[in-house]
Amino acid sequence: MDAIERIIGYHERSKHHPHRYALGPGYLDWANQPDPFRRFAGCELVPLMLPDTDDTPPYEALFGPGAIPPSAVSHRSVSRFFECSLALSAWKQFGDSRWALRINPSSGNLHPTEGYLVVGPELPGIPGPGVYHYAPKEHGLERRCEFAANVWSAFSARFPSGSFLVGLSSILWREAWKYGERAFRYCQHDVGHALGALRISAAMLGWRLTVLEGMGDESLAGVLGLDRGEDFSGVEREEPELLAVVWPSGEAGEMARIVPHEFVEGVRAGRWMGRGNRLSREHVEWDEIDAAADATRKLATEPSPCRTVETRPGGDEIDRNGPTAKQIIFQRRSAVALDGRTGISSETFFRMLGRVAVIGDPACVPWDSIGWPPCIDLLMFVHRVESLNPGLYALVRDPRRVEVLRSEMKTEFIWTRPKHCPNDLPLFLLYETDCRQGAAQLSLGQAIAGDGAFSLGMIGRFEESLRETGPWFYRRLFWEAGMVGQVLYLEAEAAGVRATGIGAYFDDAVHDVFGLHGRRFQSLYHFTVGTAVEDTRLQTNPPYPFVRPG
Ligand SMILES: Cc1cc2nc3c(=O)[nH]c(=O)nc-3n(C[C@H](O)[C@H](O)[C@H](O)COP(=O)(O)O)c2cc1C
Repeated sequence: MDAIERIIGYHERSKHHPHRYALGPGYLDWANQPDPFRRFAGCELVPLMLPDTDDTPPYEALFGPGAIPPSAVSHRSVSRFFECSLALSAWKQFGDSRWALRINPSSGNLHPTEGYLVVGPELPGIPGPGVYHYAPKEHGLERRCEFAANVWSAFSARFPSGSFLVGLSSILWREAWKYGERAFRYCQHDVGHALGALRISAAMLGWRLTVLEGMGDESLAGVLGLDRGEDFSGVEREEPELLAVVWPSGEAGEMARIVPHEFVEGVRAGRWMGRGNRLSREHVEWDEIDAAADATRKLATEPSPCRTVETRPGGDEIDRNGPTAKQIIFQRRSAVALDGRTGISSETFFRMLGRVAVIGDPACVPWDSIGWPPCIDLLMFVHRVESLNPGLYALVRDPRRVEVLRSEMKTEFIWTRPKHCPNDLPLFLLYETDCRQGAAQLSLGQAIAGDGAFSLGMIGRFEESLRETGPWFYRRLFWEAGMVGQVLYLEAEAAGVRATGIGAYFDDAVHDVFGLHGRRFQSLYHFTVGTAVEDTRLQTNPPYPFVRPG
């Protein structure tokens, strides 16, 4: 069986059906709950700063091209970059239980995603060129590798000045512990959320960020030290996911989305330090997860070029009195319950959708961080949006797909434009109906899918994408869905409501509702937005109880 058949096989068997859920552990083995914090013993920990003043730009400016002047790359700005992307956002407490929340969301709050930084010699406050693992609990960087300055030159000669690298990996066991076979999907959603969080944090500093999509996973593992058997002996391995370059926007030019071979080899040959900690005492082997990871590993591919400077001027129309980027980023939380009453205005609804629709130029935040055209569309359940009839709607993020979807979906769908919908928003009313109960049922009976203003299924252009691009594109479909989710989370906060990602739904039942058959399109992630009911029993404490200079 080839890798495409294998990953399609995994996708099919990890579906939830009303009569059969995807295979899971059946119960929660609390004694073996994975430690959410990876540390490497024997590494120097470099503290990052925690600036006590909020000097971040308005949230609205994040999406206006050129609206934020680039910050110099420094210890302080790199600290801010991690603080607003992968750091802790709060500690929660209920009785004797205490758990951390983070800037990036995660299925089951299990946080399989680990972050890395690769920098050169010119960063005061950071000990020198090397590979650093980000430790969110301490808000610090563990120096995993030290390499020579000339190794860095092989990288820096090909990228704009001030460039550095960030990497992401997944510890698949963290999600498999709770979710079994479906967990590989959740890890990939989480990578998408983390990538979205990194891109938005970079935008806050006036920086660009793009995934080095030409890289193969073997090189990625080499740069991040994930293939070093001795450092992970007897502990949970990390699956390489992506490497992205970050640079202060300004210098015009073009770059290839790949690092040179001599850089990879130079880093590999550096002085490596530290051994990973063990996260669970015992493990359950999930062969299907390993097989899914194996089938979707990527080889090096011809990278597409990336323009290093924005060509669109903008930012003049931004309201500078609104909430800051940090305020919105830090207040993001998943709603545990929605009130089943309150709606939103159509203006708010259209604005939120506009942020995920990729209207006009694809080079806008955060979509400029991925090198492929939009493959995810939104099939929506509208419940409570003022002046919009409740029913099924479609937001087609690539207008070239409207006719394809129209011909694939139910013939009774009407495909009309909602009243007052902006001309450039590719939103269509498909069918008027009260879908509150249906939406909840599709999400394994989770009331949040019916109790909000709207919920949605993210439908991916599935089998054709895999056959045209490669089995590794499976992961990227989930990354894109996670990024859509990340934008919706923040947009919900900015609109005074709240969102929740929904990974648990009956896949084929969703397809049936819209009349989709076969594997041309598949539902890859669900989401809900509405007015949250707070759980007042929980105590909230600050993310870092210590003071650090900023
Ligand atoms: C991929 C993904 C899937 C999720 N699925 C569900 C879900 O099915 N039901 C639910 O109530 N919450 C779901 N969540 C929300 C998580 O439980 C939440 O992100 C986590 O508890 C951390 O809380 P926070 O988002 O407030 O930081 C999901 C989140 C993600 C990122």
